Amino acid sequence: LTKVRYPHLKRGQYAEISEKHIQMFERIVSKNQILTDPSDVEPYNIDWLKMVCGYSSVVLKPRNTEEVSEILKFCNDENIAVCPQGGRTGVVGGSVPVFDEVIVSTQLMNKIISIDPITGVLICQAGCVLENLDSALNEKGLTMPLDLGAKGSCHIGGNVSTNAGGIRYLRYGSLHGNVLGIEAVKADGKILDCLGTMKKDNTGYHLKNLFIGSEGTLGLVTKVAIKCPPKPKAVNVAFIGLESFENILSVFQLAKSELAEVLSAFEMMDAPSMHSVVDVYHVKSPVEKCPFYALIETSGSNASHDEEKLTSFLEKGMAEGLIIDGTVTGEPSRMLNLWQLREGIPEAILHSKENCYVYKYDISLPPQQFYQIVDECKKRLEGKNYSLCCGYGHVGDCNLHLNVSIPEYSPEITNILEPFVFEWTAHYGGSISAEHGIGFKKTQYLHLSKTAESIEVMRQLKQVFDPKGILNPYKVLPDV
Ligand code: FAD
Ligand code: MLT
Ligand code: ZN
Repeated sequence: LTKVRYPHLKRGQYAEISEKHIQMFERIVSKNQILTDPSDVEPYNIDWLKMVCGYSSVVLKPRNTEEVSEILKFCNDENIAVCPQGGRTGVVGGSVPVFDEVIVSTQLMNKIISIDPITGVLICQAGCVLENLDSALNEKGLTMPLDLGAKGSCHIGGNVSTNAGGIRYLRYGSLHGNVLGIEAVKADGKILDCLGTMKKDNTGYHLKNLFIGSEGTLGLVTKVAIKCPPKPKAVNVAFIGLESFENILSVFQLAKSELAEVLSAFEMMDAPSMHSVVDVYHVKSPVEKCPFYALIETSGSNASHDEEKLTSFLEKGMAEGLIIDGTVTGEPSRMLNLWQLREGIPEAILHSKENCYVYKYDISLPPQQFYQIVDECKKRLEGKNYSLCCGYGHVGDCNLHLNVSIPEYSPEITNILEPFVFEWTAHYGGSISAEHGIGFKKTQYLHLSKTAESIEVMRQLKQVFDPKGILNPYKVLPDV
């Protein structure tokens, strides 16, 4: 675990939690909102991948903004480091303490405040679980503009703080566009109310955007206003097999021209990714024995119109020899099964071998280089003890998930993959993190995607919002 793996890192000069601090926390929130029993606290210290682990002794669960404000003010005054935490599904080690930072969890901040049926604007507390928000919106004929495999656990505050992408990004775009307002608490406890609900607002600097993707380093997001589209009336999913990655790109081009406004997702996976899901979940894929697969979703307002488009697109793809085999469905449970083949990949890789270590990269790359990096890594790993090297992801957004799994952590394999993967990505103009963020794991590579001047401005912003550096220390910004 990290304590062993990152021996170079020194704990900052923060206060250590004492009984006096706990007593003060008990004055801010009630006893049942504080966890101090080591067995209760332990899960909050360990990240989803079970690869980063802190040793915090206390979890605080505020119920509202005022409690967050009082907690942060006290921590700032006492120089106590804090780790903001949502659903703990982050995969870059940002969501758990590195040392003994106090964990402030949004678990109890799970109220929906309002849903406006005319504008589609949802206002809610930061701890609402993404899937619950979608269900509540569905009842009003609306849907969330983002969706991801972790929807059952991740919080909207965590999504905003990581600027999560996911499978609807192709259709609805980034949270920078969909989040209309944010309420956040700065390190000193001051509440920054940027909870606007207007789509158009050009009154100076867009402060709320600073919180989108800042991974808990600038403030704790307490409320979110988000623009939600109508729930599509007709949804169809096609799952296809292809001979090569080049054919995926050709089919994507065809999908853009043939499916146009109804195209809502275009995901790819290679055979090793697919095999992990099939093996771990004992499911059967309707399309087999292909080197590559793609999942294509359409959503629109007219079922027969969409079906017609999808059928014609698939016929063209087959006639041009781009698609080897495929299946289409509009039946909800079958669509879910097809999505499971794609969304189940991260968990399947993690569980394919007990105690395995998984290197996860979420890079963006130009289409021409998109899959090349998987082959490059395989070459570099030749003769080494690795279980899996695979690629899957949001090809429609040029975002690849390159995963390498090995039986147990090995510094030798780390050195083979890093900084190679990041440097290679930067060389081709890609981003070293397209969606998971920098967190704890990638700080030393930030310079490959940001200029020195940009990093300097990031440091200055950090100084403005959190001068004592109590918020999520050791994350995002590299050590100086
Ligand atoms: P956490 O993991 O708890 O925290 C993430 C970061 O945000 C941390 O730095 C934390 O300190 C900070 N944070 C959390 N809440 C707040 C808050 N209220 N205020 C300030 N800072 C806060 N990501 C994608 O982008 N696209 C995907 O498709 C995708 N799919 C995933 C699938 C699986 C199976 C898993 C496990 C993860 C996936 N992720 C994906 C990564 C992860 O789910 C997202 O990053 C998610 O948005 C994190 O939300 P969370 O509530 O779990 O946040
Ligand atoms: C995904 O698209 O499945 C994710 O971002 C999560 C992952 O790759 O681990
Ligand atoms: Zn992803």
